[in-house]
Amino acid sequence: MSKLIKKYNVPGPRYTSYPTVPYWEPESFSRGAWIDSVLHTFDQDPKQGLGLYIHLPYCESLCTFCGCHKRITKRHEVESPYIDRVLQEWKIYVALLGTRPLIQEMHLGGGTPTFFSPDNLKRLVGGILELSDRVPDADFSFEGHPNNTTREHLQALYGMGFKRVSYGVQDYNPHVQKAIHRIQPIGNVERVTQWSREIGYTSVGHDLIYGLPFQGQDHIRENIRLTRELAPDRIAFYSYAHVPWIKGNGQRGFKESDLPGSQEKGLQFELGRELLLGAGYRDVGMDHFALEGDGLYRAMAQGRLHRNFMGYTTSKTKLLLGLGISSISDSWGGFAQNVKQEGEYAELLAQGDLPVVKGHILNPEDLIIRGHILRLMCQFSTQWDESEARIIDFQAIFDNMEEMRGDGLVELGEGAIRVTPLGRPFVRNICMAFDLKLHRKKPGTRIFSMTV
Ligand SMILES: C[S@@+](CC[C@H](N)C(=O)[O-])C[C@H]1O[C@@H](n2cnc3c(N)ncnc32)[C@H](O)[C@@H]1O
Ligand code: SF4
Repeated sequence: MSKLIKKYNVPGPRYTSYPTVPYWEPESFSRGAWIDSVLHTFDQDPKQGLGLYIHLPYCESLCTFCGCHKRITKRHEVESPYIDRVLQEWKIYVALLGTRPLIQEMHLGGGTPTFFSPDNLKRLVGGILELSDRVPDADFSFEGHPNNTTREHLQALYGMGFKRVSYGVQDYNPHVQKAIHRIQPIGNVERVTQWSREIGYTSVGHDLIYGLPFQGQDHIRENIRLTRELAPDRIAFYSYAHVPWIKGNGQRGFKESDLPGSQEKGLQFELGRELLLGAGYRDVGMDHFALEGDGLYRAMAQGRLHRNFMGYTTSKTKLLLGLGISSISDSWGGFAQNVKQEGEYAELLAQGDLPVVKGHILNPEDLIIRGHILRLMCQFSTQWDESEARIIDFQAIFDNMEEMRGDGLVELGEGAIRVTPLGRPFVRNICMAFDLKLHRKKPGTRIFSMTV
């Protein structure tokens, strides 16, 4: 495995979308084309619930590894006007849809949703639900910060239908925590995990990261030992995405030389994966692990796993609307990203406009490739028929995979590809073979994080 990791650890997309964001074509996109693509998908089946992602961007303190879109402030007066704007954005979408939408999935992400007071979160979710209905088994979840999530937050959101929460843990070692500017005693993680269980949350997740500054394999061993004691239902085991060229000085709290090299990082991943599998977790998709009782594992086992900008999810929603600054929406036929600046967001909404600024409308080739990449990421196999073969040169894709086939990562059949168990950690590389846009135009500079 170490040899394979060394060979295949290259910069590559995470495939939460296809085309990936750097390959969106601005000329394909306009606000009108975006609205048409939303209505097209919604009108096909208004009874199919939609997904909602709400971005809550504020954090009180900056973690220097963070790749999320956030704004650091201690001024909690920002909460209320921000909620007003998100609700205004929702009102515009509901008016466009022309009927009360059904919600299948809602996720509050950030930034730090628990920066907001429990009352403000109730007002936000209450305002969303006032204009919509939810399917009976709706999946509502949020990201909590172990340092500021209170019992009141958990109680308030549980009361509104939230049953799943994930906490940013990252690493338990004080030296690593100091380097990433995130001091977080284990007692805080233990406390919020226990409260969540007492209140009735059915899935508690922990996010861990490997490849952080000063991390070694001993840290990974210790992080997983401590994680086992708290027994979260779900674990995201993320590769540290070092992308300082995108996030500016937010990530420059440590030196490049403090980061583990790519071979060491590969070993950390391998060790973490083995320990998690040994502890009874099952690997789900690329970087997620779950206990067999968790919904994410059940979704994978039943072929229902889905992937979108939120990562792996259990519901196959064709329409995902992203509200709040920087959020990305997905109508299956198109993608749209909201403005990133709060001022511009407020101005567009005040004029009654959707705050989308850039995006991509998919052409027939994009739609076919998108389907295959999604199936590879979620089901580890895909197949095609004659009608697709008339549009796509699958032989060229097979040629791109020849080396991976030789290394036992994929099996290529008549009109079909299967990722072997050995190939699962390399599914991003396998998807890259399908990424026709990437093959036609290789990026001139580093724009993606490493695949392992
Ligand atoms: C929005 S944060 C979670 C909520 C809260 N802000 C917190 O930090 O606890 C989302 C998660 O993304 C992951 N993350 C952020 N930046 C990352 C990076 N550069 N590489 C890998 N994972 C990252 C972290 O594991 C983090 O917990
Ligand atoms: S990791 Fe979480 S708390 Fe830290 S800056 Fe990023 S979003 Fe904010």
